[in-house]
Amino acid sequence: MKPFYVTTPIYYVNDKPHIGTAYSTIAADVIARYQRLRGRPTRFLTGLDEHGLKLERRAREDNLDPKSFVDQMAPPFREAWAELNCSYDDFIRTTESRHQEQVQKLWQRVAAAGDIYLGHYEDWYCVGCEAFYTDKELLPDKICPQHKRPVERIREASYFFRLSKYTDKLLAFYQSHPNFVRPEGRYNEVKSFVSEGLRDLSISRTSFRWGVPVPDDTEHVMYVWFDALTNYISALGGPGDDEPADLYKEYWPQNGEVVHIVGKDILRFHAVYWPAFLMSAGIEPPTQIWAHGWLTVNGEKMSKTLGNFLTPRPLIDAFGVDVLRYYLMREVAFGQDGDFSHKNLLARYNGDLANGLGNLLNRVIATIVKKNLDGKVPPAQPDEACDADRALVESAQRCASEAEKLMDSIAPHRALDAIWEMVGAANKYVDSTAPWNLIKEGKKKRLDQVVYTVLEAIRWISIMTWPFMPAKSDELRGQLGLTAVMPTAGVDLWPSVWGALASGKQTCCNQPLFPRFDKTQEREILTRLGVQVSEAIEAKSKGAVANGTEPQKNQISYDEFAKLELKVATIVSAERIAKSDKLLLLKVDIGESSPRQLLAGIAEYYAPETLIGKKVVVVANLKPRKLMGLESNGMVLAASNEQALYILTVDGELPPGSRVS
Ligand code: MSP
Repeated sequence: MKPFYVTTPIYYVNDKPHIGTAYSTIAADVIARYQRLRGRPTRFLTGLDEHGLKLERRAREDNLDPKSFVDQMAPPFREAWAELNCSYDDFIRTTESRHQEQVQKLWQRVAAAGDIYLGHYEDWYCVGCEAFYTDKELLPDKICPQHKRPVERIREASYFFRLSKYTDKLLAFYQSHPNFVRPEGRYNEVKSFVSEGLRDLSISRTSFRWGVPVPDDTEHVMYVWFDALTNYISALGGPGDDEPADLYKEYWPQNGEVVHIVGKDILRFHAVYWPAFLMSAGIEPPTQIWAHGWLTVNGEKMSKTLGNFLTPRPLIDAFGVDVLRYYLMREVAFGQDGDFSHKNLLARYNGDLANGLGNLLNRVIATIVKKNLDGKVPPAQPDEACDADRALVESAQRCASEAEKLMDSIAPHRALDAIWEMVGAANKYVDSTAPWNLIKEGKKKRLDQVVYTVLEAIRWISIMTWPFMPAKSDELRGQLGLTAVMPTAGVDLWPSVWGALASGKQTCCNQPLFPRFDKTQEREILTRLGVQVSEAIEAKSKGAVANGTEPQKNQISYDEFAKLELKVATIVSAERIAKSDKLLLLKVDIGESSPRQLLAGIAEYYAPETLIGKKVVVVANLKPRKLMGLESNGMVLAASNEQALYILTVDGELPPGSRVS
């Protein structure tokens, strides 16, 4: 098993950490945690890019020398990544001497290969990008295509790197390393850029001082990208003059596998310049560059001027770290652009987490195990196993092997789809095996077998969700009476053997893992986060307030209303209907000699067993109707909007059949 080294870009220290940089860091963390879970020696590096003209100018604006400025800007990054539970092994700053020494060594190696010469540079420079542009790369009026700001004309003496010499070498390298850049579409862009021929690259500046000095020519400081890219090897201690540093020996591609996670905007630096520098220095290029897309916020580009610059902290306070991590990894297809939307985050929370995984735990651990099995994991009863049990085991095995493949190929969003397929399968299994009926019928052994099967499925889920939601997964394991996930080098913890959950363990369920937010809480959260509450919700609530004052159309007389027979009913049984995701078959007691059968379109909102015993309101004199071949004799009243549905219940004790008017 090759050691695995994953890196984030080193972030410019002039900005605060935001949801875009958090996205890169969380993705790298998820990948690192997954590899550790598999028992692979893993190293995860992040850090800060602290040199360059932009930094020097920003420091001046704050009346600080650059070093004091970067020292003051650095801690929020460490804090943010710690708050986001990002488990980096090393944090490198380009102002550290361990880094500067390595950059100078790399320069010397490249110079010794004859690839550096002194010349003059004149072109358009964008300080935001810390990069030169040719006329044809700029937008009209000499505007930077990235920053949409005017560029500056700069002419200065500069050292150049003979990048042009590497055009063919790079193309040959791409040819022999078909997975070097991911996603594939972006790789094609890189190849086509290189195949047009490369210009030599200016790699030093004399117009500012805030950078790593060029060896033997202190007039020049190094181009920030030459400096910054080197962080990936300087954090490993570098290749050394005679003997490489231990970490370098272990992790750089001669022995290890190196994956750089970067945003699509900085792919060219990583996929063209970086391997060319390394080739020149006789060092192996990294194994893979993974370029993710960019996030917009509620459909708009994130910017301070638009006032939608999202920092992680308020989101962590509102939702918790793991919900934010889950959302970013599930919602955005890795490699594509995506949108961070507060409303989608709430919908995913209530849908995938509260109704999906949370509900599974509530139904089984907090209800059946707690109330009927003394809170203990029951023994499996293999003699009682039936097709449904075997189908759940197969589904677990299929989902785990699918999720494994997807994590190996760095498709975390799709791995989560596979894991949630298993959550869905476990919920369906509970519906179809109906353990609450087994309790009523006194079928204790079958109940044990069913409950054991679901709990084991939950154990599998708790391992696979760990890289994404480490704290919640460990909490979930605590509910099963298990210890936290403890990755150990050489030990593969990915679930593969069914039945490892020990019976007799005490479960615990003090707190629901993902309590559902009701509409009022959702509104409060959105307001607290400064997000406009949706027009739809606003419009509805205004309607409710205004009812008494605005003239109401479609009025009916009291006599017409009195024709409705609304009655209090107790739900006696509830079950799903084959081939319908929406309908539940209910038997309700409305004070008649036998319960009535009716169908209700509430299956997406309520698990059947949670309805039993509930007092609801039904329209009792509705003409019978047939739906899906089943007769419905009445209607349960429910309130709903686009996102939620709640059945109407009675606020107190009344016998079934009581009139509602
Ligand atoms: N310092 C360079 C990287 C040097 S790596 C040797 C840099 N820094 S940055 O702070 O500007 O950006 C760092 C990363 O954050 C980039 O990968 C960039 O794509 C990412 N993001 C910044 N805003 C983003 C979004 N809105 N969405 C997703 N990622 C974004 O470039």
